[in-house]
Amino acid sequence: MNSKINKLNERIELAHLGGGQKRIDKQHAKKKLTARERINYLLDEGSFEEIGILVTHRTTDFGMDKEIYYGDGVVTGYGTVDGRLVYVYAQDFTVFGGALSETHAEKICKIMDLAVKVGAPIIGLNDSGGARIQEGVKSLGGYADIFYRNVQASGVIPQISAIMGPCAGGAVYSPAMTDFTIMVENTSYMFVTGPNVVKTVTNEEVSSEELGGAQTHASKSGVAHKTSLNDIECLEDVKKLLSYLPQNNTETAHRLDFSPSEEIREVLATIVPDNPNKPYDMHEVIDGIIDDESFYEIHKDYAENIIVGFARLGGRSIGIIANQPMFLAGVLDVDSSKKAARFTRFCDCFNIPLLVLVDVPGFLPGTDQEWNGIIVHGAKLLYALSEATVPRVTVITRKAYGGAYDVMNSKHIGADFNYAWPGAEIAVMGAKGASEIIFRREIAEAKDPTEKLAEKEAEYADKFANPYRAARRGFIDEVILPENTRRKLIKTFSMLENKVVDAPKRKHGNIPL
Ligand code: COA
Repeated sequence: MNSKINKLNERIELAHLGGGQKRIDKQHAKKKLTARERINYLLDEGSFEEIGILVTHRTTDFGMDKEIYYGDGVVTGYGTVDGRLVYVYAQDFTVFGGALSETHAEKICKIMDLAVKVGAPIIGLNDSGGARIQEGVKSLGGYADIFYRNVQASGVIPQISAIMGPCAGGAVYSPAMTDFTIMVENTSYMFVTGPNVVKTVTNEEVSSEELGGAQTHASKSGVAHKTSLNDIECLEDVKKLLSYLPQNNTETAHRLDFSPSEEIREVLATIVPDNPNKPYDMHEVIDGIIDDESFYEIHKDYAENIIVGFARLGGRSIGIIANQPMFLAGVLDVDSSKKAARFTRFCDCFNIPLLVLVDVPGFLPGTDQEWNGIIVHGAKLLYALSEATVPRVTVITRKAYGGAYDVMNSKHIGADFNYAWPGAEIAVMGAKGASEIIFRREIAEAKDPTEKLAEKEAEYADKFANPYRAARRGFIDEVILPENTRRKLIKTFSMLENKVVDAPKRKHGNIPL
């Protein structure tokens, strides 16, 4: 019996060594943790249970039958984060550069299937040279098996991808279909084709980092939702993100202990400047409303004219979408519409209530926007909010102009409760632009057109640059003092807790993609 136990232990020991000590040292020299170190850091101590540790590949071509590693380049299993079940896979770069073989893919698919059946998040720690070149189409089939499962699991369980090394070619499409992608700075990159192919096809010279590094995807493409300085910070980010999410689409996010009290936040009355053309930082409004230091921003460096992220309000997990007057005056454009639409849909899938803070002068004009399809992309946000059935509450802090008023969670598209601050301006457009159009003739014929414009502007502003017309129609439920906003919102979200909307039966809608 002892010899049989020894044989098992030998195999496990070999599996734990991955591609061998030399390659582990190489991994460490690149400032990267190994797959097992990453899993151990991510999960609660001692909670990891591995699945498929003795799996090996079945390839015999190119002498592969002599190069066998237990686990076949990916460590898979389950464990807990803060006591909650998660499934995890971590690609092991020390084994064939973490390249994906048929069996490697089977291992990932096995835990994806379990995660969906049981209803718990799945976390992928990606670090791979792509398709296992020695396997050809078997490896490509393996990718497609994973992609298919990503789609089946979408909206059922949260899916999080950490990119902690190379992720190129077909490999990029699994993270792209998961809910969140977090990239480690300087050691990770993602692209469909690398710099060499780019040079051959387009004659462009570009480095890996510039083409598909963490900063590129966090600021230019929006492929990355977050970047982290190193492996440890990345794993901490994954843990933090999980804390805002429910286990699956039938549950609500874990609520922290909270005893409601009279919560007035005077600071909220000091943020919006008197001059409507002066910017202010919407982060200050967010921080003034939510539980202390609870904001977890998503897509921080991408389309900065809109802010999205998770927070806690009275212990409850909520999603926040907010125009940011500090960037492009908070206009809606192609990227900000896509960013907010995607976030809205995630929150709606997973029963996370939405708070929308509005200070929007309209859509960004210009050929660049029109030719890039602002009509369709703006419609994404309109569609996503209109179809969202989670509790939805709006606060207009200042401007809500034009079509953007409708889009930003107006009453008309199904918001449950709409507040405005006393300084809110709810109108078709700003007073100056409006006066120039509707009083054009009067102004042109005036002795002093500038004086006339100012007079008409004041008249228009007096009539429309306030929240009261909308409140009279019931489009605004209540005009509230800024300092009362937190208290009101805690009560409103609590009141909406049991909201149910029965949608008509259909296969699925046709969101303008
Ligand atoms: N299939 C099989 N083995 C692979 C592989 C792949 N796709 N990618 C890397 N490897 C192996 C390497 O042969 C090497 O093996 P060794 O340890 O026995 O020497 C090991 O993984 C590490 O690769 P290496 O090239 O030394 O690492 P690196 O950090 O210098 O470079 C990459 C990493 C990913 C840039 C590089 O390996 C690469 O370009 N790989 C091929 C990418 C590709 O074209 N994939 C297929 C299309 S999706």
